[in-house]
Amino acid sequence: PRGDGIVIAIDGPSGSGKSSTARGTARAREMRYLDTGAMYRALTWWVLHNGVDATTADAAAVARLAAQPVITMGTDPTDPTVRVDGTDVAEDIRSPEVTSGVSAVSAVPEVRERMVALQRDIIAEARRDSGGIVVEGRDITTVVAPEAEVKIYLTASAEARAERRSREVRTSDIAATRADLMRRDLFDSSRAESPLTQTEDALELETTGMSLDEVIALVVKLADEASGEV
Ligand code: DC
Repeated sequence: PRGDGIVIAIDGPSGSGKSSTARGTARAREMRYLDTGAMYRALTWWVLHNGVDATTADAAAVARLAAQPVITMGTDPTDPTVRVDGTDVAEDIRSPEVTSGVSAVSAVPEVRERMVALQRDIIAEARRDSGGIVVEGRDITTVVAPEAEVKIYLTASAEARAERRSREVRTSDIAATRADLMRRDLFDSSRAESPLTQTEDALELETTGMSLDEVIALVVKLADEASGEV
């Protein structure tokens, strides 16, 4: 119904429930949905697909490769899509290889510059032509869309995040998943370029012990308040 054209920006560490929350909120409010992590994963997939090990390659080589493909994001929350030069990579970008390489690729300044520009285009279009957009990532509230009407920093305890992520990737090795999450979080929040940071003007939502439906209901309420509907 809404069509209020607002932007909801959600940042947070891996496994905090960003994707499920952002997608559920977009569906509930009939908004668009953008998973910016999927964009960095798509470029990482491309780098690997071209035979380059993202974790050992130099930044210049990664930057050169990452400038090549056309990344196309489908922003329907019931069926979000990711394409690299027309190839559907939605499943491949969740592979362990992409997951291990993505922090290195997303730390390259040229990569971020290109992806942020694309993200801003998608946001501008959603503001104009549809009911607004829910965007999730690490630097949405700080760099990509600091003007967003609703800004949220989603967190949960390390245990809760490791459990969620283990369920997602269907592994029973929670300890290994937790170690991988911690490694990626440290990398993502200590890199020089647009690190994951929690700022004062984003509302912190600590979701340990909350159900997904409760978190979504809360974000929907915040958005309705921000758009002056209640
Ligand atoms: O949310 P995710 O796990 O799919 O994100 C994959 C990686 O991409 C993550 O390790 C950090 C990076 N990322 C980023 O640097 N900036 C964003 N806005 C989103 C993700």
